[in-house]
Amino acid sequence: MTVSESAFIELDRVEKVFDVRRRTGFLKRELRQVRAVDAISFRVARGEMVGYIGPNGAGKSTTIKMLTGILTPSGGRLRVAGIDPSRERTRLAHRIGVVFGQRTTLWWDLPLIDSYRLMHRMYRIPDGRYRENLDRLVELLDLAALLEVPVRQLSLGQRMRGDIVAALLHDPEVLYLDEPTIGLDVVSKARVREFLRELNAERGTTVLLTTHDLQDIEQLCSRVMVIDHGRLVYDGALAGLHEAGESERTLVVDLERELPPIEAGEAARVVKVEGPRQWLAFPASASAAPLVAHIAARYPLVDLSVREPDIEAVIAKMLYAPGGSGEGPPERQTVVPGAGNS
Ligand SMILES: Nc1ncnc2c1ncn2[C@@H]1O[C@H](COP(=O)(O)OP(=O)(O)OP(=O)(O)O)[C@@H](O)[C@H]1O
Ligand SMILES: [Mg+2]
Repeated sequence: MTVSESAFIELDRVEKVFDVRRRTGFLKRELRQVRAVDAISFRVARGEMVGYIGPNGAGKSTTIKMLTGILTPSGGRLRVAGIDPSRERTRLAHRIGVVFGQRTTLWWDLPLIDSYRLMHRMYRIPDGRYRENLDRLVELLDLAALLEVPVRQLSLGQRMRGDIVAALLHDPEVLYLDEPTIGLDVVSKARVREFLRELNAERGTTVLLTTHDLQDIEQLCSRVMVIDHGRLVYDGALAGLHEAGESERTLVVDLERELPPIEAGEAARVVKVEGPRQWLAFPASASAAPLVAHIAARYPLVDLSVREPDIEAVIAKMLYAPGGSGEGPPERQTVVPGAGNS
C-alpha cells in the first residue's frame, strides 16, 4: 500500500469535463463542455464518515463515479487505498462497496438471494465469509422474509436495503452511498441510518455519503463537504456549515386562537401567520428551549413543532449570503474551518 493510513481517499485537483452536443438548429450542433467536477481536492481518513452534499447537478455523483473507476478524471490525481480507480477498477472493486439510490445493482428478474449468490462468485468471496456476512447483513437489515422475492417486486425501501447488503457482502473497506435514503419512509430511513452507524463503529468502514436529507448528515457525519458547480465550497463540521449559512430553524406554533404576530425579541421573528398558526424563524445554532419557554409563558399555546433547515436552503444561503463575494459560487473560496479536515 502506497498511501498513508491518514488518507484513505485522496483527491488532488481532480476534474471531470463532459463534452455535450446540443442541437441549436435544424442541422446545427454545438459542442459544449460541462465542467462537472472542477479542481476538487480532499482527503478522507480510514474510518471517517463524511457527508458529500450539494444542489442538483453539483457534481456529487460524478465524483463518486470517479472514485469507483466508472469514470476517468479529465485531470488531477485520485487514489483510493493507494489505487488509481480508473486504471485498476477490478482490483479496487474488491475493496469498495457502492450503493446508487437511483438505480439498483441487483438483477431485476431474479430473487434477491440469487443476486447475492452471483456476487459470491463474482467477488470470489470465501464460502465461510460469504455465509457469515450474508446472515449478519440479512438479519441487521431485516431481509430474511424477502430473499426469495424477485427484485422487481420489492418496494423501494426493501430494494435499497437489498442493495446495501449486496454492496457489503465482500467486506469492503469503504462504502460510497449515493442517496441511499432517497424515497424511503421514516422507518426505513431510521433503519438504514442505524445500520450505517453500527457498520462504521464496529467494522471501521469508511463511508462517503451523498444525500439531500440533512438529517442523514446530522445523524451520521461529523464532517461534511459541500460541492457546488463542481467546486468544493465547504469542508468541515456540520455546525460550522450552519454558521456559514446563517441557517435558521423554524418553530411552528399553534395558538388557541388567531393573535397578532408573537413577540420574541431578538430570539426569533415571525415569518408567517395563518389563522392560529404562526411560524417563527430562529438561528439553527440556538436552542429552541428558551424560545419555547418564552412563548409558553405569554401565549395560549396548543401545540408546537420544530422544523430543521432544508439543506438546499442552508447551502444557498451560504453561497449567496450578503457579505459574500456576491458573484455566486464559482468565484468563492473553500471555507475550511478548523475542525474535521486535517
Ligand atoms: N455522462 C454525462 N454526460 C454529460 N454531462 C453529464 C454526464 N453526467 C453528468 N453530467 C453533468 O455533470 C453535472 C454534474 O452531474 P452529477 O450527476 O454529478 O450531479 P449531482 O451532484 O449528483 O446531482 P443530483 O443531486 O441531481 O444527483 C451536471 O451538469 C450533469 O448534467
Ligand atoms: Mg447525483
